[in-house]
Amino acid sequence: MQVIVKKDYAQISRLAAEMIADEVRKNPRCVLGLATGSTPLGTYAELIRMHKKEKLDFSQVVTFNLDEYVGLDPKHNQSYWYFMYKNLFKHINIRMENVHVPNGKAEDVDAFCAWYDAEIERFGGIDIQVLGIGGNGHIAFNEPGTAVFSRTGWVSLTKETIRDNARFFRKASDVPRYAISMGIGTILEARKILLLAHKESKASAIAASVDGPITANVPASALQLHADCTFIVDKPAAGKLNRKYGSTLKKLPRA
Ligand code: PGA
Repeated sequence: MQVIVKKDYAQISRLAAEMIADEVRKNPRCVLGLATGSTPLGTYAELIRMHKKEKLDFSQVVTFNLDEYVGLDPKHNQSYWYFMYKNLFKHINIRMENVHVPNGKAEDVDAFCAWYDAEIERFGGIDIQVLGIGGNGHIAFNEPGTAVFSRTGWVSLTKETIRDNARFFRKASDVPRYAISMGIGTILEARKILLLAHKESKASAIAASVDGPITANVPASALQLHADCTFIVDKPAAGKLNRKYGSTLKKLPRA
């Protein structure tokens, strides 16, 4: 696991967007795993800028999102489909048929989830997976206690997550209690993983994920098992780490 500590949110967003853009340029048909939440918004804004100003081309890119609330129609203004459309897809030249967000209205959720994992495989697997992290260490909607090698499935949300997300709904009782979430095992199959975090409120979760034992109680700690996972965090989010980390990817010293 690599850790890169940046000065602020703008720098985190720029670096993450550059890493994603590098992949898109190198491999125009790449498969991106995308996340919702406030954290990746700066990265998406930077990708939109690169598309508009630098002609970054998404016309062949395929995407798979991490999660969706069960029961919300894609057009619901709090659905993750709508979030992605509003904050990224409608501003770039991606083909909507190449976009995948779990279907919160699937009639047979288990069959849908099995199909979603199979579909990721059919496209050759995810090249770069973007992740945020919850204050309790969750990744996607995989709450503490989720099996480290879980597959995509439906999950029930913790009280903490419902409370955190209530700010987006009229009232807390409007927050769906269930979601479809890419499994931790599915996430671990991505070739490269970028986890982004900023603010002090994420410092404990980041320290537990990087320095703590691998445990189902801290879902992001499973990322220690991945061969190419980079945490890009700001100074407050890095505040509880055991060691100091640089602000660039480590390069091998010249012989
Ligand atoms: P946030 O959420 O980006 O809004 O902080 C991250 C998460 O809960 O996964």
